Amino acid sequence: MPGIGNVSAGSVNLLFGTHTLDDACSQRWHYKPQVMVSALNLSLYITDRHGSFSKGLMLYPELFKQLEAVRWDMARDIHWDNFDVNKLSQEQARTIKYNAITEWAALPATEMFLRDNRHDSDFSAFISIWFFEEQKHALVLMEYLRRFRPEFVPTEAELHAVRFEFDPAPAMETLMLHFCGEIRLNHWYRCASQWHSEPVIKQIYTKLSQDEARHGGAYLKYMKQAIARFGVEAKSAFAKGGVLMASARRTAQAMHPTNLHVNKALFPNDTVQSRLPDPLWLEHWLDRQIKFGAAWEAKVVERILHNVSLMFNRSFTTVQELNKYRKELSRELAQSCAEEALLPGPA
Ligand SMILES: [Fe+2]
Ligand SMILES: [Fe+2]
Repeated sequence: MPGIGNVSAGSVNLLFGTHTLDDACSQRWHYKPQVMVSALNLSLYITDRHGSFSKGLMLYPELFKQLEAVRWDMARDIHWDNFDVNKLSQEQARTIKYNAITEWAALPATEMFLRDNRHDSDFSAFISIWFFEEQKHALVLMEYLRRFRPEFVPTEAELHAVRFEFDPAPAMETLMLHFCGEIRLNHWYRCASQWHSEPVIKQIYTKLSQDEARHGGAYLKYMKQAIARFGVEAKSAFAKGGVLMASARRTAQAMHPTNLHVNKALFPNDTVQSRLPDPLWLEHWLDRQIKFGAAWEAKVVERILHNVSLMFNRSFTTVQELNKYRKELSRELAQSCAEEALLPGPA
């Protein structure tokens, strides 16, 4: 994949503009650049005709229990004593530094989530777990460097550089983007674990990949919840995000939230990756180091389509099929908006 410094006009439009063109109910769906995550439990969710939520049906309490039960301990569960100095190159250590800074970007993403989900206290509470675990990812990578290659520990200024304001964005689209981002990260980290040769960092990447998969599962629950609450509106947002995130081979840059433009006023320095000490790191890491090639990419797309198929109760084997369904949903949403507009207003 080309470096993100070569973002094409087409891909920028993909993120900033073209999605507004076929959005039904555009007054409610001004697409702005963004990032993501989500979740759901249809069987637990009930709304009345006015959209109020029944008591005791939040996802956060159960997610807290589930994620706490499998949480790993940095001191106890990472086998630091297995470190083999002969199996860590300078190149590998440097790339761990950039990965640590990228994980730190959970901080501005959390600020975005809490701002854009003020209406949803359940999801906002879950973000406390997500934020904790993502910051822990940055921390474990930094701890590894502190112990074994302290010259590569990121400075506070380097970490702070990725904290910047994201433009407001539709919460459901953001959720889908993050869901797909977690799936992608799960595969990136599995691939990274194979590429690294030093046993401790191999183990760390395996731990991170498992966490990312669990995050994707939690987001999926919130997505199902959103479909139960908002129907075609939610489906349309998720289908749109799915098409975008599963189309990596048709775009100029790696499809991940940290690589998306999220602040028009700061363009082009408005991706997390553009604010790293080496803005081309991600592409270099994927293409030249861990070699995340077509076979891995196919696995990511397959996982996204598999989950979207389950979510929509419909089978998608290609991105094109999902895109076709996205257009159907857009028409359905437009029709429902038109019907809504014809309803008499309050007397
Ligand atoms: Fe992470
Ligand atoms: Fe994650």
